[in-house]
Amino acid sequence: MNDMNASARKIILVTGASGGIGKQTALALAQQGHTIVMHGRNPDKTRAARDWIVERSGNPDVHAHIADLSLMASVRDFAEEIAGTYDHLDVLVNNAGGQFGSAREVTAEGHEKTFAINTLQPFLLTSLLLPMLERSDSARIVTVASESYRQGGRPILDDIELERHYSMVRAYGLSKLYVWWLMRQFDERLKASGVRNIAVNTVEPGSAATSLQRESIRTAPWMLPLLILWLPFIRSAAHGARTSVFMATDPSVEGVSGGFYGNRRPKHINPKWISPEGERRVWEYCSKACAEQLSGFASPIDMV
Ligand SMILES: NC(=O)c1ccc[n+]([C@@H]2O[C@H](COP(=O)([O-])OP(=O)(O)OC[C@H]3O[C@@H](n4cnc5c(N)ncnc54)[C@H](OP(=O)(O)O)[C@@H]3O)[C@@H](O)[C@H]2O)c1
Repeated sequence: MNDMNASARKIILVTGASGGIGKQTALALAQQGHTIVMHGRNPDKTRAARDWIVERSGNPDVHAHIADLSLMASVRDFAEEIAGTYDHLDVLVNNAGGQFGSAREVTAEGHEKTFAINTLQPFLLTSLLLPMLERSDSARIVTVASESYRQGGRPILDDIELERHYSMVRAYGLSKLYVWWLMRQFDERLKASGVRNIAVNTVEPGSAATSLQRESIRTAPWMLPLLILWLPFIRSAAHGARTSVFMATDPSVEGVSGGFYGNRRPKHINPKWISPEGERRVWEYCSKACAEQLSGFASPIDMV
């Protein structure tokens, strides 16, 4: 672990840190000497990941919290637990995500599963944690999207949860496009509200060997040959974590906000994927879908 004076030590929340890219992100940040708040869904797996990180990093300041983030009621409870445990947050890494199968499935709250965990959840968690981030001297929000945002096809804004147009590839691709759009909106709305100490960026990790496609392969075995062909391009989960770690703490990107980064560099974006109207519609949709969880919440930004 790096020696670090107390003023440089940040409190960093990484969601989905029980495995894959999130676990490697939490490890690298623990090695830098920060306080790590790691989230996982499975208690045993998350605690085992926490012990592994403490042992590998030599940093005992690593804390495990458990929540199923596919349910917005549980996102709200989780945000309350974090607010009740830490006095502020310096970095939020929205890493938890999933890819599901060839048949559309909904959560107990009625949301399409891919959309719930990849889009709605980071929208709600980020919203609810803004007051904690605002208390940091300089906060960063880093959200893990994917290059797959280009593979979902045309956004279908009158069927955001794909009741009529579901396919596995479209659901994943659009969920990542929409979460990137939402982060652009957070950046814009924070600036419009005069909040200057919270930077918001989106990253893509490249292709990393994790358990992400496990569920898709189970229900859509036709994906397996495609994945085998793709094997030479698949890197380690630690490699996949590099851009998240960079955007979370690197001094060279201090103050950078509203960006989309991959391989620790700004990505070239084809303007056809930028849509202020689309961003506004997805924001409104999420804001309505989370109205119950957001009720009574005093946000520093305009949530409507
Ligand atoms: N791997 C890639 O090639 C790749 C490429 C582009 C983008 N990404 C993105 O990178 C991020 C990390 O994915 P990964 O590849 O590391 O996959 P992973 O190994 O499956 O890890 C995903 C993490 O998210 C957690 N998670 C999933 N569903 C959850 C839920 N309902 N509630 C709470 N936690 C949940 C998982 O918990 P459990 O351990 O309980 O499942 C795990 O900790 C995701 O946002 C993914 O979309 C990955």
